[in-house]
Amino acid sequence: MAAVNETARRSMVAGNWKMHHDHLQAIRTVQEIGLRLPAEVLPRVEVVVHPPFTDLRSVQTVLEDRAISLVLGAQHCAGEDSGPFTGEVAAPMLARLGVRYVLVGHSERRHLFGQDDEQVAAALRAVLRHDMVPVLCVGETGQERAADETEAVLERQIRTATAGVRADQAASLVLAYEPVWAIGTGVTATPADAQQGCSHARRMLAASVDDTAARAARVLYGGSVVAENTAELMAGADVDGVLVGGASLQADSFCAIVAAAGSVRSG
Ligand code: 13P
Repeated sequence: MAAVNETARRSMVAGNWKMHHDHLQAIRTVQEIGLRLPAEVLPRVEVVVHPPFTDLRSVQTVLEDRAISLVLGAQHCAGEDSGPFTGEVAAPMLARLGVRYVLVGHSERRHLFGQDDEQVAAALRAVLRHDMVPVLCVGETGQERAADETEAVLERQIRTATAGVRADQAASLVLAYEPVWAIGTGVTATPADAQQGCSHARRMLAASVDDTAARAARVLYGGSVVAENTAELMAGADVDGVLVGGASLQADSFCAIVAAAGSVRSG
């Protein structure tokens, strides 16, 4: 198989809305994003939104009706395809709604809702089973960082989640390095820290699955990203894009991040 040229990786900006915006607010927001998206960068930057489950059908309809170049994502899914799992949402349900990307193992699921590495692995396999793309979120807490455990944490999270994943599946995977101490805190990792974390994550994917696949997979940084720090964060050779929380909720701040991402790589 020919070596994968690293420049072949298309940049990505993904907005994780978390538990914000009901379906009416969601419709307004994606319409506004549609009006403001800098069209000239879209060949180089893939733009994704991850609204709450209750918004997905409405957002899907608006994107289709208005031909808005946003890709639909979800924030979580169950490891099983159906069954007595009150409150959970299954991967095939998301696939039917035109969802392409599903966040798996976001730190809020891990730390606030007790999702463990095995459950993350099951969710990742469910996403792949239904021909969607997992965005595997990994990252260390402030305490783990202070104890110099960042690499070990990333290794454990990536090894467990990708057990049994084939090289062709890993090549299209998205990893998101989101240090927990940088999420929602306004404390952004330095560009050097972001690059180091993304580079560790890529190396762990290479060690766990396949080197060529790991060079093809995209790795995002997440944690207090805003338009002003996007370009410097994405300057790192292993940082292919950003996963954005707070600054993705408003069309103007989100589109400014997309524009900044578009300025980084000429494709
Ligand atoms: P903030 O951008 O609000 O720090 O959130 C990051 C995040 O958790 C994205 O998934």
